Amino acid sequence: MPGLVIVGAQWGDEGKGKVTDLLAERADAIVRFQGGNNAGHTIVRDGEEFKFHLIPSGILYPDKACVIGNGVVLDPRILLGEIEGLRRRGVDMNNLKISANAHLIMPYHVLLDTAGEVKLGKLSLGTTRRGIGPCYADKALRLGIRVQDLLDEKILRAKIRTALEPKQQALRELSVQRRKLRKEAGEGGGVSEAEIEDAPDPRIDLHTMTEEHVNFGHRLEPHIADTSRLCWDVLDAGKTVIFEGAQATLLDLDHGTYPFVTSSNPIAGAATVGAGVGPTDIDEVWGVAKAYATRVGAGPFPTELEDATGRHMLEKGHEYGTTTGRERRCGWMDLVALSYAVRLNRMTSLAITKLDVLSGLDTLRVAVRYRSREGALLDTFPYHQSILHSATPEYEELPGFSADLQACRSADELPPEARRYLDYIAEFVGVPIRLVGVGPGRDQVVWIGD
Ligand code: IMP
Repeated sequence: MPGLVIVGAQWGDEGKGKVTDLLAERADAIVRFQGGNNAGHTIVRDGEEFKFHLIPSGILYPDKACVIGNGVVLDPRILLGEIEGLRRRGVDMNNLKISANAHLIMPYHVLLDTAGEVKLGKLSLGTTRRGIGPCYADKALRLGIRVQDLLDEKILRAKIRTALEPKQQALRELSVQRRKLRKEAGEGGGVSEAEIEDAPDPRIDLHTMTEEHVNFGHRLEPHIADTSRLCWDVLDAGKTVIFEGAQATLLDLDHGTYPFVTSSNPIAGAATVGAGVGPTDIDEVWGVAKAYATRVGAGPFPTELEDATGRHMLEKGHEYGTTTGRERRCGWMDLVALSYAVRLNRMTSLAITKLDVLSGLDTLRVAVRYRSREGALLDTFPYHQSILHSATPEYEELPGFSADLQACRSADELPPEARRYLDYIAEFVGVPIRLVGVGPGRDQVVWIGD
């Protein structure tokens, strides 16, 4: 399996971290190729829980290169916090390599993300407010600051100055609004309007930001590398690279439920751009899907459940965001959407996670088509946003199971109803299920086939 991509097949939080961690055992390098600290991976190793936002899941293996690719946007403060936290827990960080071309999330990106969401009010996207969208926007505008810029103070200062200028107006407006609100609430007593207008936000002061980031540069320097070349060397030696996707197919900027998407491309094709390899370097694509569906943030979600079954999934599945702690919206497995994800990524294998969460439900439902508001039957994922927004799913019902699956380690140990559920999914989407998650622990998996 020399080049293997792992992608989320739904709306994120499918358990990609655990699947990557398991497959990483047989890999030589693990590369993240998009997204930033909007992601959150939880890995349980020997009863110890590890949460990552930026660092690839393979970091717990001391003998594997762990790469943050050029397609990632990284907040250096968060990354350094993760590095220090892992070091304190005895994890060897020498194998962490960071692309010199990756873009940095700057303090003004985080402020702009929040400002954008506040401004949209009820229409907000529900972003993670980590600065992802504004950072990718600056990258496209060619106003971005890259990891390599941290190593040259003069260039860094000049680039921050240029990038900062167009943001200042928007941020000043936000800051004035905020201060006014605070003043009205009695917290800014004695501050005049003029003083409010002039007060600079210390977080986006050019001098402070430059100093701070030069310091970040010194601390990150040992990890900065030409990561494309690193991938080529591993692949050319016939060894295995895992390209670890963050977020998921339906949050893809081009192919997801726009505008309720993230600002990068989490689909498999983006691994080539975000890591700097060619399409023919990719041999396998694994999609990871939960046995049901969840979504955080706003946007269409046809199979969403706002009833006792949805609560069952929320509570039994501990469906709270790793990054923001928000409750995730829960619903039935949507095979129309999954088929779309399978084709977009041309998946070769599927991993189904959290099957144990469905135990205790008498009947399991899977969406097999949608019906539009006008009554038309839709067998494929509609490309038009308005149709998707008003589509209602039509379900196939399958018998549920009540046994606790957490101790199952082989397909034979799963109840027949659980096997039937898996077979139905695999047959419907035409991709074999190779791995099934039956609990949070690393060993709580059922491998199917080799
Ligand atoms: P952003 O990526 O912070 O700009 O958020 C855009 C949308 O993607 C929002 O609906 C977020 O909730 C969602 N999102 C971003 N990252 C993740 C993730 O790792 N898991 C699930 N949803 C995510």
